[in-house]
Amino acid sequence: MKAIIAATAVAATLACGTALAADDPVALTKEFKGDCLVCHAIDKKMAGPTWKAVANRYAGDASAQDKLTEKVIKGGKGNWDKETSGMVMPPHAAAPNKEQISKIVAAILALK
Ligand code: HEC
Repeated sequence: MKAIIAATAVAATLACGTALAADDPVALTKEFKGDCLVCHAIDKKMAGPTWKAVANRYAGDASAQDKLTEKVIKGGKGNWDKETSGMVMPPHAAAPNKEQISKIVAAILALK
């Protein structure tokens, strides 16, 4: 009986955690051990643009999901020079991997 209660509690916790992480870019970044939060926050200006600003700029741009996933993988600058004084985003070739970066980008774009 105890084991059943424990298993149910664990399942409920897991289900909750997954639902939260899927649309929270900060939680996803932590889950995938990405370095993103060194330079980004949802709506606090750091070295990189806020993720809210990114979501707003690309709202309605159907190519944003692929374009931004590529950009995070390759790194680069140029799109936010005014906000970042020309700072470069470093490439992310291995970790988080492409699929994980794509999930973080989807959650960022859903912020608006
Ligand atoms: C060392 C600081 C730094 C880290 C770490 C970093 N970024 Fe960035 N990020 C930047 C800067 C600077 C820019 C602005 C680049 C530009 O002007 O085109 C940026 C831009 C972006 C953009 C918008 C790109 C565009 O072209 O509009 C996204 C999305 C993004 N970052 C996501 C991430 C994610 C996801 C991670 C973690 C995997 C991450 N960043 C890690 C500094 C960083």
